[in-house]
Amino acid sequence: MIHRTYGDAMRVFVGQQAAFSLTRFGDWPLVIPVFDGYHKENGFYQVMCLFGLIVVICIIECNADERGTRMDIDWAIASHRWLRFLHPALNRRLMRLNGMQNREDDEIRDRRIELRAAGYRFATDAPDFVNCNVMANNVVYPPLATSQSISLADFPEGALQRVEVADRTFLLRRQAGAVEIWPGVCPHEGAPLNAVDLRGSMLKCPWHGLECGPRRLLSGGASATVCGARLELSGTKLSIGPALEPNIVE
Ligand code: FES
Repeated sequence: MIHRTYGDAMRVFVGQQAAFSLTRFGDWPLVIPVFDGYHKENGFYQVMCLFGLIVVICIIECNADERGTRMDIDWAIASHRWLRFLHPALNRRLMRLNGMQNREDDEIRDRRIELRAAGYRFATDAPDFVNCNVMANNVVYPPLATSQSISLADFPEGALQRVEVADRTFLLRRQAGAVEIWPGVCPHEGAPLNAVDLRGSMLKCPWHGLECGPRRLLSGGASATVCGARLELSGTKLSIGPALEPNIVE
């Protein structure tokens, strides 16, 4: 996974504006309740409670800058005054985690810049911390200007091939007279997907673990929309054209 900052933590409950993370403190399990809320447009807060004794309030602002979106984060630590001696160590730990997370996010930000330059947009382009944390199909594909076709006659049966055609990237596999198709760009945040990400018939994104099953096309059968393009199979000819609704996966 691209985010290793909180690698030991797993979400045991996720609600609209609250989550419970299970992590560990030494060898002890520790459940941390986390609450998210808006305090202004593009301004959010996150409240965590540690051991039922210490409260951490993070104030997060998502601001547009020349690279896209910049997150400005600040936090405050509150507890009974007897526990104040713990604050400096906790503050240092939070600074370290925040720095790690920012470094891990660089790859995602760079990829977004690359895809935007190719005409892609994202459902989360308006800076928004809460919707950025929802596992959804956020990639908005650029419209396809023209149709193209490729011949699959030379594609070896059963081998996964990465194909770039009509400004789109797909992973294709010929299988018993049909062709299976996966997106070459993760519909969540746009990670490049490759043959090494295939687990059985599911393509598992290396960034946040979204799994995509294949669309299966039969010669002369129904078309399918993948990566915002409409694909049809006729014999060994695969046609790729504009989809009526590019961002609806059929
Ligand atoms: S980019 Fe997030 S799961 Fe693929």
